[in-house]
Amino acid sequence: MGEPDLYLLGRNKAEEMRLKRQIANLAPESDAQFERIGIRPGERVLDLGCGPGGVLHLLGKRVGPSGSVVGIERSPRFVQLAQRFVADHELPQVEVREGDAYDTGLSRHSFDGAHMRLVLVNVPEPERIVGEMVSLVRPGGWIASFEADFLSHICDPPLPAWSRLIDTYAAYSAAHGIDLFIGRRTHRLFRAAGVVDIRLDAVVQIYPPGHDRRPILLDFITNVSDKLIEGGFISREQFGEDKKAVERHIANPEVMVSSETFYRLCGRTAQMMTMGV
Ligand SMILES: C[S@@+](CC[C@H](N)C(=O)[O-])C[C@H]1O[C@@H](n2cnc3c(N)ncnc32)[C@H](O)[C@@H]1O
Repeated sequence: MGEPDLYLLGRNKAEEMRLKRQIANLAPESDAQFERIGIRPGERVLDLGCGPGGVLHLLGKRVGPSGSVVGIERSPRFVQLAQRFVADHELPQVEVREGDAYDTGLSRHSFDGAHMRLVLVNVPEPERIVGEMVSLVRPGGWIASFEADFLSHICDPPLPAWSRLIDTYAAYSAAHGIDLFIGRRTHRLFRAAGVVDIRLDAVVQIYPPGHDRRPILLDFITNVSDKLIEGGFISREQFGEDKKAVERHIANPEVMVSSETFYRLCGRTAQMMTMGV
């Protein structure tokens, strides 16, 4: 792996647990997207940045035993976990490989379709990953992206500490070339990479009291707390106060918390032009 790994969220134990919960949390929203695409048995499909499992089980079931799924993940630990995950689901048609989504080394045009969920919102130079992804799909194959935009990640009643933590997280991300609001422009990124027939919809979830993802802002900022503080994006005191204030606020069952906006994009790679004679 030649390039530095500027992935935003880190991969500590807490993040590993969060990603494992995410597998179940987002499965219905992803599976609905796969249903609309019409993924068929026997297809060969790719999932970039699959994490410790992601959607590999959903894709594996859709392509069936005659198809194949390749999951690419940069972290060796997540590769191991994902391999265990697919073994537990008894899906031998799913293979997980360590690799870099910027430069997978996989054969061009060798997949019927490719999918990526919540990778672009955590990395710099997303257009390079999009370009790599599109280049791996055969002409006329399908492309699916599921990407976040922090626009709707709010609480109500509003809380200054919440807004300050979001602004701090966004400023830290932007300083590293990472766009927390990338969801809204995925249609442009994929179009620029040659994807056609783009269809887009968006999902916002509400996280009621007791929901796994209600404290997700706290999960995110805790993952990067040292970097926020050491980078001078917020003082240690302010960070501690804001974190406690948000914890208290969302413990109140009358407070509403909504998710990021998840933009779901489907499209196709252009058909090869056939030259008349
Ligand atoms: C937020 S997680 C999402 C995991 C999974 N797609 C899901 O939706 O549950 C993003 C994943 O992308 C992986 N990742 C980040 N940069 C990568 C890269 N350059 N190549 C491959 N994987 C990468 C991270 O290690 C992490 O597992």
